[in-house]
Amino acid sequence: MYKSILLFCGLVFIFFTCKTEKKDIKLVTDSSSNELNFDHDPHSFSKPEISSIKHLHLIANIDFPARKIVAKARYTLNPGFGKELILDTRGLEIKSVDLLNESSTINTKFKFGESDSILGKALVIDLNPAFPTVEINYNTTDDAAALMWIDKEQTDSKKFPYLFTQSQSIYARTWIPVPDGPGMRFTYSAEINVPKGMMAAMSANNTQNMNPTGNYKFEMNFPIPAYLLALAVGEFSFLPIGDHTGVYASPSLIEKAKNEFEDLEKMLLTAENLYGKYPWGRYDVLVLPPSFPFGGMENPMLTFVTPSVIAGDRSLTSLLAHELAHSWSGNLITNSTWNDFWINEGFTTYFESRIMESLYGKEYADMLSILGYQDLQKTVRSSDSLDPLTKLHMDLEGQDPELSLGDIAYEKGKLFLRMLEEHYGREKFDSFLKAYFDKFKFQSMNASKFEKFLTENLIHNDTKMLDAIKVWIHTPGLPEFKPSYTYAKFNNVETQVNQFLKSKKTSEIDAKNYSTHEWLHLIRTLPQDSQKFIVKTLDNAFQLSNSGNAEIQCAWLEYVIKNGDAKQYYKNIEAFLCEKGRRKFLITLYTALTEQGQIKIAEIIFQKAKKSYHPISIESIEELLAKS
Ligand code: BES
Ligand code: ZN
Repeated sequence: MYKSILLFCGLVFIFFTCKTEKKDIKLVTDSSSNELNFDHDPHSFSKPEISSIKHLHLIANIDFPARKIVAKARYTLNPGFGKELILDTRGLEIKSVDLLNESSTINTKFKFGESDSILGKALVIDLNPAFPTVEINYNTTDDAAALMWIDKEQTDSKKFPYLFTQSQSIYARTWIPVPDGPGMRFTYSAEINVPKGMMAAMSANNTQNMNPTGNYKFEMNFPIPAYLLALAVGEFSFLPIGDHTGVYASPSLIEKAKNEFEDLEKMLLTAENLYGKYPWGRYDVLVLPPSFPFGGMENPMLTFVTPSVIAGDRSLTSLLAHELAHSWSGNLITNSTWNDFWINEGFTTYFESRIMESLYGKEYADMLSILGYQDLQKTVRSSDSLDPLTKLHMDLEGQDPELSLGDIAYEKGKLFLRMLEEHYGREKFDSFLKAYFDKFKFQSMNASKFEKFLTENLIHNDTKMLDAIKVWIHTPGLPEFKPSYTYAKFNNVETQVNQFLKSKKTSEIDAKNYSTHEWLHLIRTLPQDSQKFIVKTLDNAFQLSNSGNAEIQCAWLEYVIKNGDAKQYYKNIEAFLCEKGRRKFLITLYTALTEQGQIKIAEIIFQKAKKSYHPISIESIEELLAKS
């Protein structure tokens, strides 16, 4: 019976989707247009409905002394291209543009069109129907926000300089002219020339060994959006973890990294068990220098991670589960514009939690989930009840796409899926998700497309739930729903904190077996230190201000600052802010400092630390300090 209902629904579904797919595809009546229909992307000047690219071949020389990438980008256009090709650029120097076919090359006209301080400039190239390939000679400039150039003196071994890119959300355009919207996909290949003795890696098929000539070739044969283009050049080596997984890191970190990421292959198999075969071939991780502005970045085949994930006890590896999950939610099915960032991050945060639960049990995974849920409640509580930024589906026209960051896309998105899971049961919800990942692979997704699939395959005509999902996706705030997480471990922490507050004895806190999450919960549970004994007593007992675990240390230093102890702990705060480049940590501590009126301290530290921060982090901290 159940199977025949499914079969019936499947047939109804196929019937409807075939119909809508016809509607989605623009009929090609004019040879100057492409056949695919793209959502309007408020963060890209590119007009893929006029001309879009099928493949990018990048030939680049990495000029460390001049801190420049000097490159030739060759694009194969999709058939049916129009009179012009419009690409996104920001701070690029375009030297010339040629058109190519099998037998000849001609020079073509180009100009800069629309421009905007956040979006950069449209590069408008005249096309000719007889020439399906476009070649741009260009170089990057000092304004390339995606690029982090590190002098050799600033690296571990001090032998070689380092370069890495960060393209999400709209920084690919600062190092390659591209259609830079998440809804526009293309395959790519690259030839990268680097100084002899250095290694290069990309979000593509990578070599595991250093090539003494300094010439590296890459291929990404699946279509990806520009924000997943990534390159790193430096001194790093490779160690395998399992048959399909491995790690790249600097020689001084490689052994530690391999040890920390020991479960990577298991994670991959667990993820495959949940939602279908890993589609990209290999899954490797590259540990970047500390200035990497994020925890992790899901560059296909090669996740980039912060070195601060290496805590020595494998306690922060949910970050790997998160980036790995993006191989499905994000890289395989991608938000069509940044308005639906939750389609990437909400699904991934849910998926991450399922991987953690399968590998380490419900109690462990639930602790992580509760911390995220607390963050979400705090964000919603502190925002206006009508704040449009607390909606899942947003309208970011005219605004920086990174406004969409924060807990909403991640945690409200995850909670929405958790609500569906609890309502329909895990088995049914998992087969729904598996079907979703299979059906829409290598496609773009937006809120209405997802709602439609959800309605046809899970909700059907349950009007109450149909109304509820509209509220979840399209209204601000947090609908009434309490996830069934297990609170036992955190309740235990709270009891111990209460006893400690009463007796002032740290022996009340039985921290021997505390996980990172219990520590974080403990810090969150502490009251304002009106009697000025908490900070001193706990720090003396547990050395939290020197914790080797960056998450714990950051949360603790934030607590210390918020309790007015910034001056006493100045050395620790300064050392942390000079050594760590992850933007989340920087924003947390600089915000705490400015909110406590310690603007001078914040500015002094920033001036000292700035040279070791990524341009993306510098931009955020400068904005933060300017506002205070
Ligand atoms: N894709 C994001 C990082 C990102 C988001 C870069 C938006 C630029 C703009 C990545 O998957 C991510 O979410 N990283 C988190 C870690 C994760 C465990 C929540 C981070 O960096 O903090
Ligand atoms: Zn993510």
